[in-house]
Amino acid sequence: MKTKILIGNWKMNKTIQETIGFVCAVKETIKDIEPEQIMIGIAPSFLALPVLEKITDKIFSVAQNVHYEEKGAYTGEISVEMLKEIEIDYALIGHSERRKYFNESNESCNLKLKALEKNQMIAVYCVGETIEEYRDGKTKAVIKTQLIEGLKDLSKEFIENIIIAYEPVWAIGTGESANEDIAQDIASYIKEVIKEEFKMKYFDNLKVLYGGSVKPENINDYVNKDDIDGALVGGASLSPDSFVAMIEKLKE
Ligand code: PGA
Repeated sequence: MKTKILIGNWKMNKTIQETIGFVCAVKETIKDIEPEQIMIGIAPSFLALPVLEKITDKIFSVAQNVHYEEKGAYTGEISVEMLKEIEIDYALIGHSERRKYFNESNESCNLKLKALEKNQMIAVYCVGETIEEYRDGKTKAVIKTQLIEGLKDLSKEFIENIIIAYEPVWAIGTGESANEDIAQDIASYIKEVIKEEFKMKYFDNLKVLYGGSVKPENINDYVNKDDIDGALVGGASLSPDSFVAMIEKLKE
């Protein structure tokens, strides 16, 4: 049985108190779940990260972003060292909202991934096409470029343990999710590109998630597919009820 992964991306939602309330609400459901069965992660606000990390060992904490420089005059940014100090091991890189609103490019993602690599952190690297690219039949070409440029010059060991989140931009927060067969096809393509481009021999640890309007009703349509190891969930991860319902589905 494959280990399934569920990561809630809370974006700019939930205060520290709300984070604590959420964990209390889901703790009964998650108390007996082993990480070999389902790995449960949440990417809360930076302020709530150390709190989340402290109050439960059943949920791994994920940073939503990181700066690629070690330190310096970058007002408003967070460094890898700051994350390591509070024992954060995972970070989302290149979420489409970061690409769209904060001008992140494959090149800047690559620098961030290198910063994570240097500090033995695990990346959840987000890739996905826009609606125009999808309509023009460019999905695979776009994803290949995001992978090749984003993962450039990273070690095999780092890439072996990376988590790639395939999130079609047009499916994020829209209620319109990708067809599960298409998502499976892209997930298998992602594994194939990484294997070939980076001459990977061992890549059993490499995980691919699907993200984009995932909810309890459709999570298993994706996660039951051969090459999809889990889901990155925004909206439906905010309510304890739907978060718990997704975990229950993954347990089936
Ligand atoms: P959504 O967001 O589940 O609300 O579509 C997914 C994401 O942004 O990771």
